[in-house]
Amino acid sequence: MKKTVVRVVCAIGQAGQIGLDGRLPWEGNRSPEFVADVARFFDVTRGHVLLAGPKTIASVPDFARADRELVVVRSSMDPEDTLQRFAGRVVFIGGGPPVWDAYARFVSHWDVTRLPYDGPADRWFDARWLTGGGEVARNHRDQ
Ligand SMILES: NC(=O)c1ccc[n+]([C@@H]2O[C@H](COP(=O)([O-])OP(=O)(O)OC[C@H]3O[C@@H](n4cnc5c(N)ncnc54)[C@H](OP(=O)(O)O)[C@@H]3O)[C@@H](O)[C@H]2O)c1
Repeated sequence: MKKTVVRVVCAIGQAGQIGLDGRLPWEGNRSPEFVADVARFFDVTRGHVLLAGPKTIASVPDFARADRELVVVRSSMDPEDTLQRFAGRVVFIGGGPPVWDAYARFVSHWDVTRLPYDGPADRWFDARWLTGGGEVARNHRDQ
């Protein structure tokens, strides 16, 4: 049976900042690292499925809407059933944090760029997402 390949590409600031006022905290920064990071995100996800919460999908610019499949996920949707709809494809889980909370256990590859941003944020990266699926190991470690 074909599987869904589940991946994440995201960018964080020096302390794990990921969002501010519904946007990227560093939005509008034209320094090469920031411009390259956005370009790389759209390169890597091209042709694949980008599955994310309503605010994150709304922030995808028009130029990037034609060459990838955008899927808005809601809290009422079962993550496993949702991913199953895309068997045989590569699905990128685009955030925000509640979506990564729910889908982290399915992710086989996290691609995290740490940008030279050290300002405010109201959304933060949670390192527990990286080990989100390991029930057995987690119980073992607690003993
Ligand atoms: N740095 C990065 O790489 C990066 C990436 C993505 C987003 N961001 C930033 O993050 C912010 C947006 O994220 P956000 O979290 O505020 O809004 P969001 O993208 O709309 O995601 C959160 C929403 O997803 C929905 N959702 C879908 N499945 C869910 C589930 N299983 N469990 C819980 N909720 C689920 C919920 O809405 P309902 O309850 O209404 O369904 C929830 O409120 C922006 O600032 C954006 O720039 C940054």
